[in-house]
Amino acid sequence: SVLEMEVEQINKGKYEHYMQKEIHEQPESLTTTMRGRLIRGGSCKVKTVLLGGLKDHIKTIRRSRRIVFIGCGTSYNAALAARPIIEELSGVPVTMEIASDLVDRQGPIYREDTAVFVSQSGETADTLLALEYALENGALCVGITNTVGSAIARKTHCGIHINAGCEIGVASTKAYTSQIVVMAMLALAIGDDAISSQTRREAIIDGLIDLPNKVREVLKLDQEMKDLAKLLMAEQSLLVFGRGYNFATALEGALKVKEVSLMHSEGMLAGEMKHGPLALVDENLPIIVIATRDACFSKQQSVIQQLHARKGRLIVMCSKGDAASVCAGGSCRVIEVPQVEDCLQPVVNIVPLQLLAYHLTVLRGHNVDQPRNLAKSVTTQ
Ligand code: G6P
Repeated sequence: SVLEMEVEQINKGKYEHYMQKEIHEQPESLTTTMRGRLIRGGSCKVKTVLLGGLKDHIKTIRRSRRIVFIGCGTSYNAALAARPIIEELSGVPVTMEIASDLVDRQGPIYREDTAVFVSQSGETADTLLALEYALENGALCVGITNTVGSAIARKTHCGIHINAGCEIGVASTKAYTSQIVVMAMLALAIGDDAISSQTRREAIIDGLIDLPNKVREVLKLDQEMKDLAKLLMAEQSLLVFGRGYNFATALEGALKVKEVSLMHSEGMLAGEMKHGPLALVDENLPIIVIATRDACFSKQQSVIQQLHARKGRLIVMCSKGDAASVCAGGSCRVIEVPQVEDCLQPVVNIVPLQLLAYHLTVLRGHNVDQPRNLAKSVTTQ
């Protein structure tokens, strides 16, 4: 109806699509996610994290034998992005489960496990089934959702709301970045506060506080991503290589591209390149390589060299200031992003790929907010 259309236009504000609005509101949604949860300074300069929904369970989680992350789609990818920092700060082994696969296998879940269910809607059928299964097996079940009162929020023992605000576009964008931030805060909350890790913890907390500014900065790449989309719009396929903290960025960037722009795209672990994907490389297939500064940087540099040697068509995402050096010895297009603390870099790095997916979709003439065959919340098996 005309009224519905008008209400929709009001909700979208100056934006043409919800996905576009939700991408651009990430500085604000991240701020809301962190509000009241980061305790800064004081006279003794202790910086800490407060997660009210977990307060009676932090010790149990810290002592659990394993943390199992369970989710689908983008929510799974967010957990994958947070896995390294949780392992680093807590020392607890973290394993990853796609919800449907855990249920298919009836995989082992024990009483000593903490099972963390990540779901934007809190209503995804596969994730709910996995939750029921984990409850039956006696694990401590933690929910990370964006929906107060949702099934997953109600049925878990405890949890954290991501408070990203209502997300309408079927392709998840702001919920993804808020999920990562919540899990980084979870890492800080369950990690031990030994003197040896104090500097690292403070750097992460400072990084979190400054993160909305960095996301505001990376959003300025909008026009550049639109130009890149023009260049790529007629392609059949797009690969994305990442590793370490940014393996998740590769998976999530490719998921965004395929689900909204309907272009085939795969995210790949760069460490696996030689074990198959390298066969696909030629002068035509576009490949995005994520090579921002972190402990994996030199390994990614050699991946770039190997792709150059095979005349790969490269688009390299690198830290500001690295544009000239990162592609030495070959030609490539560069996406320069602000550098942040390594474990928070996935939050910054996904933004240009969200913008790319958005512009590809508009240019290719597809439905941005409701891609064909997909639903925002998959409540049936
Ligand atoms: C559907 C949506 C995806 C979402 C996934 C998991 O496939 O289209 O955008 O990532 O479900 O949804 P959840 O609400 O559990 O995060």
